[in-house]
Amino acid sequence: MRDSSCASKTSGSGKGELCNRQERKKHKVLGYHSDICGSYFDQYSVGSAEYSEADGQFMLRFNLNMIMTATDDFSSENKLGQGGFGTVHKGILPNGQEIAVKRLTKGSGQGDTEFKNEVSLLTRLQHRNLVKLLGFCSEGDEEILIYELVHNSSLDHFIFDEERRSLLTWDVRFRIIEGIARGLLYLHEDSQLTIIHRDLKASNILLDTEMNPKVADFGTARLFDADETRAETRRIAGTRGYMAPEYLNHGQISAKSDVYSFGVMLLEMISGERNNSFEGEGLAAFAWKRWVEGKPEIIIDPLLMDEPRNEIIKLIQIGLLCVQENAAKRPTMSSVILWFGSETMIIPLPKAPAMTGSQCQSEDGTMSMSNVFTELSSR
Ligand SMILES: Nc1ncnc2c1ncn2[C@@H]1O[C@H](COP(=O)(O)OP(=O)(O)OP(=O)(O)O)[C@@H](O)[C@H]1O
Ligand SMILES: [Mg+2]
Repeated sequence: MRDSSCASKTSGSGKGELCNRQERKKHKVLGYHSDICGSYFDQYSVGSAEYSEADGQFMLRFNLNMIMTATDDFSSENKLGQGGFGTVHKGILPNGQEIAVKRLTKGSGQGDTEFKNEVSLLTRLQHRNLVKLLGFCSEGDEEILIYELVHNSSLDHFIFDEERRSLLTWDVRFRIIEGIARGLLYLHEDSQLTIIHRDLKASNILLDTEMNPKVADFGTARLFDADETRAETRRIAGTRGYMAPEYLNHGQISAKSDVYSFGVMLLEMISGERNNSFEGEGLAAFAWKRWVEGKPEIIIDPLLMDEPRNEIIKLIQIGLLCVQENAAKRPTMSSVILWFGSETMIIPLPKAPAMTGSQCQSEDGTMSMSNVFTELSSR
């Protein structure tokens, strides 16, 4: 069915119209020009719009030869990284457009359903803080996703790197955190679909040349019915340290499980440390203990020493609200964005995150933070 020749896709009624619609879509996405539908595919074989009967969506199919040429046969020099589902290579199309090609490992567990799911979801989404999916290739054993190339690679290559971390001033970190929040808000509330990312982490945040963040990888995202706010899944597909306890333990996902992962990332951006560097307890629990002791500044990256302390502590507070054990108490991404932008709004005090000692939830602990809270809310 997914033949790349125009003729085979245009059989049946509406043949000419479909061909024209395919051409229009193709031109729109790739900026190519061709007068004759057939000769375009024969000569250039870059990609073609595909009509998917399943959901009525257009998608772009790329020819494997073109991808091989673009990536120099998946050469090691062009390799950008490796993830759970396969390798990512840089490439360049004949029109000069740079791409990132995710070649899925055979038997990686990301089956045909997930593959099509990721393609189908991403092609419908457009937001400056989401990575753009250009199309896919599925030939023989190969299943490949083709994305826009995001030039500065991923956030983990900066925030967890001794030297590069110094490039992330507070202003830059704040802008990245805010951009991620906006991308997530779009996924959760503002797009036509309700999408839970499920695998938010620093390596899934890509940075462009201006260090604007783009959320990547929706392979595990699922579509929810409009009135459904929560869903259960048997598959635990995320990454442990970033996963909300109810997702980790019971496979329950919701927008609030993404909020949890966002909170972990936010605390990582403030501390400059990986969540799993905090042996045994994790960053959320460590930050919470310092918070109830009244010393939240202990977790702040020393490189941020001279940056506005109150604003950073406000973000620690928001991060702790996001990682609270009780999912219902975690804020929505829209609240988080409102708090980011306001100096006067009263932000609630966080309750304990998951897996913390009971002494952390003591009245004394909470009381000790009210000083910080009062100071912040009076700014
Ligand atoms: N569109 C892109 N532009 C530039 N670099 C990319 C792009 N997509 C991925 N990368 C790079 O390739 C690396 C591997 O990505 P990949 O998504 O395969 O693995 P991951 O994010 O580490 O883990 P996971 O498989 O859980 O997503 C990323 O860390 C990033 O540096
Ligand atoms: Mg990834």
